[in-house]
Amino acid sequence: SVAGRNAIHPTGSAVSLWDRAQAKGHRGGVFWMTGLPGAGKSTLAREAENRLFGRGIDVSVLDGDTLRAGLCADLGFSDADRRENVRRAAAVARILAESGQVVIVALISPTVADREMARQIVGEGFHEIFIDTPQATCEQRDPKGLYAAARAGKIEGFTGVDAPYEAPAKPDLRVETTDASRDETAARLATYITDATRLD
Ligand code: PPS
Repeated sequence: SVAGRNAIHPTGSAVSLWDRAQAKGHRGGVFWMTGLPGAGKSTLAREAENRLFGRGIDVSVLDGDTLRAGLCADLGFSDADRRENVRRAAAVARILAESGQVVIVALISPTVADREMARQIVGEGFHEIFIDTPQATCEQRDPKGLYAAARAGKIEGFTGVDAPYEAPAKPDLRVETTDASRDETAARLATYITDATRLD
C-alpha cells in the first residue's frame, strides 16, 4: 500500500565508509563484468578473487549461475527477467560494497540500459569491465554446451544466438581473452581492482 511504502525509511550505516576502509586497508567497490556466455566471466572472476584474497582484500563474487540458484531462482531469460536479475545483483552488490567489500559481479547483463541501471543503483565505485571474447571463440569453447543446444533449437532466446548482446562502447576496462593466458588476464584484472580500491 502507499501508506506502507511511505513508512519505509532507509537508514544509513552507523559506521562511515571511511572508517570501514581504514579498518580493512582498502576501499569497497563493484566490478561489474559483462560479456557473452562462455566469454570467461566466471572463471576470471574466481581467479581474480583468489589473487585479491591473497593480498588481504575482502572480496566476494556474485555470479549469474549462483544467483540464479538462489536469490534469482524465480527468474528466467526474458528481457524483463534479465533486467530483474541485474537489478537484484546490483542491489546486493551495493550493500556489500557499502560494508567495505570489493565485489566482482559476473553477469551477461546483455543490454546497455540494464548496465546503466546497475551503475545508477550502485552509485559511486561502479566499474564496468567488458570481458571481450569474440563470439566465435565463445562458441568454440562452449563450456556448457549451450551454444550447440541453442543452434540445435533446444534453447530459445540464447544470448548471441537469438537474443541480443550489446557490447559496452566505453567500458572502464576491456579485457581481451584470446591473445593472453588466463593467468595474465586474471593478474591484469587483480591489478586494476587493487589500484581502484587503494586507500589514499
Ligand atoms: S543475464 O542475461 O545477465 O540475466 O544472464 P546470467 O544471469 O549471467 O546467466 C547466464 C548463464 O545462464 C545460462 N543460460 C543462458 N544464458 C543466456 N541466454 C539463455 N537463454 C540462457 N539459458 C541459460 C548460461 O549458461 C549463462 O552462463 P555463462 O556463464 O554466462 O556462460
